[in-house]
Amino acid sequence: MEKKEEKFLSLSKKNKELQILIENEIEKNRQKDKLLFAQNKMAALGEMLNNISHQWRQPLMEISSLFIPIEGKLNLNMEVKQEELKESIENLNIITKYMSNTIDDFRNFFATNKKIEEFKVLEEINTAYRLTSASLKANDILLEIRVSKNPKIIGYKNEYTQVLINLLNNAKDALIDRKISNPKIIISVKEENNEVILKIEDNAGGIKVDPLENIFKPFFTYGKKNGTGVGLFMSKLIIENNMNGKLLVNNNNLGAEFKIITHNNPIK
Ligand SMILES: Nc1ncnc2c1ncn2[C@@H]1O[C@H](COP(=O)(O)OP(=O)(O)OP(=O)(O)O)[C@@H](O)[C@H]1O
Ligand SMILES: [Mg+2]
Repeated sequence: MEKKEEKFLSLSKKNKELQILIENEIEKNRQKDKLLFAQNKMAALGEMLNNISHQWRQPLMEISSLFIPIEGKLNLNMEVKQEELKESIENLNIITKYMSNTIDDFRNFFATNKKIEEFKVLEEINTAYRLTSASLKANDILLEIRVSKNPKIIGYKNEYTQVLINLLNNAKDALIDRKISNPKIIISVKEENNEVILKIEDNAGGIKVDPLENIFKPFFTYGKKNGTGVGLFMSKLIIENNMNGKLLVNNNNLGAEFKIITHNNPIK
């Protein structure tokens, strides 16, 4: 009798120890995911700094040339008309407003206000576009946005944008790397019942990985010089764990096709 009890006690002790061990491991994994998340954001930050410097170069050039004719006239003691001055000032305002918008996008994206909110999908597509457009344009990549409706999504806004940026960057990488002629990315959105389905397609020839699902594994990268293999793992975590949605992939006859399925009603 005593022996049985002892055995039971020692077993239940072992069980508890095991449970603690498991909890520790889970916590460690959670910490790892957090680290990866931060890393992915840092990589996105680098990418975006690049984009911002791209996006600022052109308006800076414009600003620097805006007052050259006026300065010239002043140097030659020629009259400067009020109208001319006014026009230059107006142009200056337009340009600085554009530059300030770029910075706002940037700041909003890195804000740490992690709360579930309702947002419009088109706005996030636009933000993702603004934050990647410079490198897309520099590589002559056409981005077509096909949206007949502008559905609302309930979830983490900045994280959703981060996923869009990851997917756009991957498509861009494949298009550039494979030197595709007429490179193109299509984003389309539809709403079905309680779901918002956003599709990102490219014409880069598809994902050359078998089975395809491997691309979602942490640190899985293929055919890239500087890939870390974190982008899609992170994206899947954001959509499926944090937003209770689905991130799906397949190859169509032109290239890769990703689907982000999220909810337009409160997450249960
Ligand atoms: N649109 C695409 N076309 C072709 N291959 C793709 C596409 N998207 C992803 N892949 C493949 O999936 C792999 C994993 O992508 P993932 O974004 O997770 O990592 P990565 O781009 O290699 O590195 P990073 O962490 O910098 O994003 C890529 O290395 C690439 O081989
Ligand atoms: Mg990537």
